[in-house]
Amino acid sequence: MNPLIEFQGFNKYFGTHQVLKDIDLTVNAGEVVVILGPSGCGKSTLLRCLNGLEEAQGGSLRLAGQELLAAGTDWRQVRQRVGMVFQSYHLFGHMSVIDNLLLGPLKVQQRPRREAREQAENLLERVGLLDKRDAFPRQLSGGQQQRIAIVRALCMNPEVMLFDEVTAALDPEMVKEVLQVIQGLAEGGMTLLIVTHEMAFARAVADRIVFMEAGRILEQNDPERFFTQPRTARAQQFLEKFSFVQSLPKTLHKELS
Ligand SMILES: Nc1ncnc2c1ncn2[C@@H]1O[C@H](COP(=O)(O)OP(=O)(O)OP(=O)(O)O)[C@@H](O)[C@H]1O
Ligand SMILES: [Mg+2]
Repeated sequence: MNPLIEFQGFNKYFGTHQVLKDIDLTVNAGEVVVILGPSGCGKSTLLRCLNGLEEAQGGSLRLAGQELLAAGTDWRQVRQRVGMVFQSYHLFGHMSVIDNLLLGPLKVQQRPRREAREQAENLLERVGLLDKRDAFPRQLSGGQQQRIAIVRALCMNPEVMLFDEVTAALDPEMVKEVLQVIQGLAEGGMTLLIVTHEMAFARAVADRIVFMEAGRILEQNDPERFFTQPRTARAQQFLEKFSFVQSLPKTLHKELS
């Protein structure tokens, strides 16, 4: 076991509202952990804390042994090590795909253009979009833009990737192509922390499922166990609701889950 991410007794408040409560969570290098739980339980906040987008109040958070909650943490540097992709992809509309991809490696990491470009093109090829290298974001489908956003994060050579509902805004026919890219990263041995409402995907890709409710981790288990024999009544309810929600039109998922 080689712990890459370690939350210990981790707490987060928004004002007086405690949204993360005593979180203990370890993610080992090469592990794929999927976080599930009802809307508002704190999944996004947990990921955002790992990237310094939210400030924590108490506890410990280590990345490869380095305490991030210590004074003087260089979050700009941490963000290069922790890649994050959200529901909305935020590519720069006035820049071509390749320029979007090279921005971080050249401006932030000051890497040689040739080397960065070669890496970006290799990654584009891996996600099947090398032919879009000189296109502009508006010329791409949502699924294509999301794959570019994933490549953009990968171009920084992160140690771990965080995915927060990256397919939630996509038309159903584009979901698969994005999930396949994530599956490829998992198979390649990358450490992934994933929030998703795609249960079949979660079950297939995860080494471990973490189930949260109201800011706490209620249970953690391997996917087969979690989906067939959830330990808590709350997880059982969640899964039951899900099989119902999945038979409804996609636009209703978010409201009901
Ligand atoms: N910037 C903020 N200010 C105040 N409260 C917030 C803020 N962001 C989130 N919250 C609250 O923190 C709690 C956790 O929110 P979070 O977005 O992490 O939930 P989530 O599990 O990702 O939900 P969803 O599945 O809907 O994305 C919620 O009660 C939410 O209202
Ligand atoms: Mg969220």
